[in-house]
Amino acid sequence: MSTSANLSRTLLLQRLADGQFHSGEVIGAELGLSRAAVSKHVKALTELGLDIFSVTGKGYKLSKPLSLLEHKAITRLLEQHDNIQLTVLNIIDSTNQYVKDLRPQPTSGYVCLAEAQTAGRGRQGRTWESPYGASIYMSMFWRFDGGYQAISGLSLVVGIAIAEALSELSLVDAKLKWPNDVYVQGKKLAGILVEVEGQLGGGCDCIIGLGLNVDLPEKQVNINQPWTDIIRASGKQVDRNILAAHLIKSLNNALTLFEQRGLVPFLSKWQSLDYFYDQPIKLLMGKNEVQGIGRGIDANGALLLESDGEIKHFHGGEISVRAN
Ligand code: BTN
Repeated sequence: MSTSANLSRTLLLQRLADGQFHSGEVIGAELGLSRAAVSKHVKALTELGLDIFSVTGKGYKLSKPLSLLEHKAITRLLEQHDNIQLTVLNIIDSTNQYVKDLRPQPTSGYVCLAEAQTAGRGRQGRTWESPYGASIYMSMFWRFDGGYQAISGLSLVVGIAIAEALSELSLVDAKLKWPNDVYVQGKKLAGILVEVEGQLGGGCDCIIGLGLNVDLPEKQVNINQPWTDIIRASGKQVDRNILAAHLIKSLNNALTLFEQRGLVPFLSKWQSLDYFYDQPIKLLMGKNEVQGIGRGIDANGALLLESDGEIKHFHGGEISVRAN
């Protein structure tokens, strides 16, 4: 999408965000667009998951007010975190891809947020549904010196940081599914995708992507596993700017500690948040599967599974919860 179309859609939504009727003609005049162009942008936004309807003589209206992400509102809450640099985007293919493509490369603590993704990426090559304004889509950049060993357990630390941010805001009591899903009441609330680029000379550049459901439109989402969002799980309204700022702070603190001390300070936190501790687990690894009882993680973040009286360590795979 062109920059000018993206800008027009941002401005259009700023007008519609209050949930009131706005005449297409007036919006067009304000934005320097024809009525047909306004209608085209509205259609495109509807395809991104927004519920906008039109009534002859009254104009366009969002089915409910929308609180948009605001750079200023978020940075105001990040004052003491000098390393954090924030970009807030409107519509992008994927925030992870955006961060990956940045040149010059950002420094640790750079964060990018978007209102919608057209090609959001999930784990195992899956897509991540990213309707407009319905979630937090966030990617943080962090460079770790010391090669791949330095990042073992990273995604577990990210999950802990998310659970802690949600608890600080008294929103939900989240649990973690190894290696990197956030669950509430047995349903997936958030997912983490860490993409790593190793450098000659040892450093690891990590793009830490987080998708957290806030208020998903039931109609448009097509997720083949039980899911929930903040509004459904907590019954509370949440300001996405405050939520984003808490997530950024929590992640920044956790990554700073992880960089200094590794996984050790997080082991007991993981144990208290582990959704499958002492539970029967089916672990999928490509075409293979292993069954056992979850016994937490080892010092490197590997999953511990007990079967036939023996505890085995698993570094990869995914705990099965899907319908297919
Ligand atoms: C999963 O499959 O559970 C991981 C989902 C990760 C989604 C987030 S949304 C922000 C960031 N950008 C992406 O393209 N993906 C991650």
